[in-house]
Amino acid sequence: MMSGSSQELVVRKIEKGTVIDHIPVGQALNVIKILGVGGGKHTVAVVMNVASKKYGRKDIVKVEGKELSPVEVNRIALVAPEATINVIQEYKVVKKNKVKLPERVQGIVKCTNPSCITNKPREPVVPTFKVYSRSPLLLLCEYCGNRISQEEIIKQFTG
Ligand code: CTP
Ligand code: ZN
Repeated sequence: MMSGSSQELVVRKIEKGTVIDHIPVGQALNVIKILGVGGGKHTVAVVMNVASKKYGRKDIVKVEGKELSPVEVNRIALVAPEATINVIQEYKVVKKNKVKLPERVQGIVKCTNPSCITNKPREPVVPTFKVYSRSPLLLLCEYCGNRISQEEIIKQFTG
């Protein structure tokens, strides 16, 4: 669609793969780290800080030849809660899904409290958090009440 705003032309359309759109400005590199696609195996296009029709500004990440796993989508929801995941085939958007930040986050973030029961090696307890605040994102451990910031979550996802 060449009639779109000039942002469409910053990076060309992809043939097959995934476009993660509506990423908050500044989070594109974290999305790339979460997906593990920064190592040269995939062709990746990154658009940072472009005008968005819906929000003020946004980042976009396009990955050729990759579909996202449910775990990857859940992780992206924590750094880009408004993101849209577009699956592309033969240059067309064949699937469009908004990520969803759930009420409870289970099994994808670790509690930072070393004495939390979720960190005991022999306890089969899945770390579970309530979303305590959405903006800024803050998770509350259901087991020990510890609060996890978005910065800490990103640190866990990106090593
Ligand atoms: N896109 C792409 N390659 C394609 C098709 C689409 O890179 N072959 C990108 C577009 O540039 C856009 C995103 O995928 O960033 C979604 O495409 P589309 O649904 O056509 O755009 P919008 O209608 O603007 O999306 P939304 O309504 O979700 O904002
Ligand atoms: Zn805890």
